[in-house]
Amino acid sequence: MDGFASLLRSIERLVGFKCSNYKEDYIKRRILSRMRLTNTADYEAYHKYLLGNPQEIDPLRNALTINVTKFFRDPEVFEVLRREVLPDLARHKKTIRIWCAGCATGEEPYSIAILAHELTALRRDVNVTVYATDIDTGALQKAMAGIYDEKALENVDRRRLRKHFISRDDGTFEVRSHIRDFVKFRQHDLMSGVPIARYLDAVTCRNVTIYFTEKQKNELARLFYSALTADGYYIMGKTEYLGREVEHLFTPYNIAQKILRKAA
Ligand SMILES: C[S@@+](CC[C@H](N)C(=O)[O-])C[C@H]1O[C@@H](n2cnc3c(N)ncnc32)[C@H](O)[C@@H]1O
Repeated sequence: MDGFASLLRSIERLVGFKCSNYKEDYIKRRILSRMRLTNTADYEAYHKYLLGNPQEIDPLRNALTINVTKFFRDPEVFEVLRREVLPDLARHKKTIRIWCAGCATGEEPYSIAILAHELTALRRDVNVTVYATDIDTGALQKAMAGIYDEKALENVDRRRLRKHFISRDDGTFEVRSHIRDFVKFRQHDLMSGVPIARYLDAVTCRNVTIYFTEKQKNELARLFYSALTADGYYIMGKTEYLGREVEHLFTPYNIAQKILRKAA
């Protein structure tokens, strides 16, 4: 076994991250970022460092599961959710269930919760639950704390900021409880083959599959298909696409915003 392969085995064992499900280029780039920061010259040296320094496990896990995100990332997508998708769901049902898969530090599910709050203010007979999951427990802890700096909030307008956040003395902002109440956070591995729930009305899985192999992407599309109700919405990241093998499972709803619907 070469140095890289044996490093991957140790990473899988120590970090619990299944590297073989991800594109090799991606894994290499993430490991290289840790090698630069730990001053290790090659995979063998980094492997040795990892084995001898248990404090390297957490930063490595963070590097492998990069959690870059912000509130209302790609605002146009959220406009379509606000103007079309949520009102359409509310026309047909009283309980709306949305899975935000790969939610990182919580900005995306809380953005959806803000829209849900605006919807239910007009439609008091409708309930919305946002199931927010990620593989990374550190990211989920931050999500549950619900405290964000200005940078994460740059797409939140003043009215929403005042209404849904508490301004703290240190310049950060805390999500108010009426928004938190919409969101249920849980740790979940999208590679597990098991959905967080079934009969879901919408799944958002954005900027997560860019690192997955084609095979894993196709399996994930099948998983979402099985978890959605008839006509349920699937919202992908702007740069993500459906593989040929699974194209027939969804029909385009808004091509520009990468919003699809479950095919009959
Ligand atoms: C770039 S963030 C995307 C956050 C948010 N969806 C957005 O678009 O702003 C990617 C997230 O995918 C998560 N992720 C990667 N592999 C995963 C897996 N197998 N299961 C669940 N989450 C995963 C990472 O931990 C990370 O938080």
